[in-house]
Amino acid sequence: MKKSILVLSLALIAAGVFAQDIALSKPPAKIGVDILDAIRSRAAARAFVKRDVSVADLSAIVWAGNGLKGAPDAVSAASKAAGTIPVSGDVNYVNIYILTAKGVYRYDPVGNLLKQVGKKDARGDITTENIANAAFMVLFTYDGAKLPSFVKGNPAGARDMGMGTASYAAQNVGLVAASLKLGSIIMYNIKPDVAASAAGLTKDEVPLFIMQVGYVQ
Ligand SMILES: Cc1cc2nc3c(=O)[nH]c(=O)nc-3n(C[C@H](O)[C@H](O)[C@H](O)COP(=O)(O)O)c2cc1C
Repeated sequence: MKKSILVLSLALIAAGVFAQDIALSKPPAKIGVDILDAIRSRAAARAFVKRDVSVADLSAIVWAGNGLKGAPDAVSAASKAAGTIPVSGDVNYVNIYILTAKGVYRYDPVGNLLKQVGKKDARGDITTENIANAAFMVLFTYDGAKLPSFVKGNPAGARDMGMGTASYAAQNVGLVAASLKLGSIIMYNIKPDVAASAAGLTKDEVPLFIMQVGYVQ
């Protein structure tokens, strides 16, 4: 009996079932802020007031950053990826991770959840510019194995493509955060090896940059 409980526990741990995943809510249909007002209100913030982010706000932000809209583009048929950001080819090679005081989470757009991949607050390890009261940090990566074949064997071109695409994600995150009255700041000052280890990246996945996001009032 004890042996079977042990075997079951090990199997569940191996499957990641004990991880504290965060189930996300559906993104809001509207946010109530004009796009031009959102662009005007976006500004870098370097200090935040301490406040946990709600699941609703987090859901809207990660969806804008790298979510799925539903049906593929039926008008031009150009996009089969149906993502909130454009990608080259039909396979999305950009990933975003959310880091909080409770751990590190990989955003799974299909499952609409944040899958816990680490239990440590790794934010202060990843950058020397960690802002104490930020509600969360976003880590942007690209997966070199998923890039279109025409940049394979061209590391500089691959990084350009990853960086360019992740920047769309960052812009969406910043604008939706601003619309929800959260400030944000983009930072390239990261320790890539530490970020890769904290997020459990595969050998093909490259950490690019971070955004720190939090409440400014
Ligand atoms: C590509 C890029 C990388 C950046 N990296 C850092 C960084 O590592 N550390 C930092 O303090 N600011 C960094 N910044 C600057 C801030 O994100 C912010 O843009 C700047 O303070 C200007 O504020 P604004 O966005 O409100 O105009 C970076 C900005 C860009 C565009």
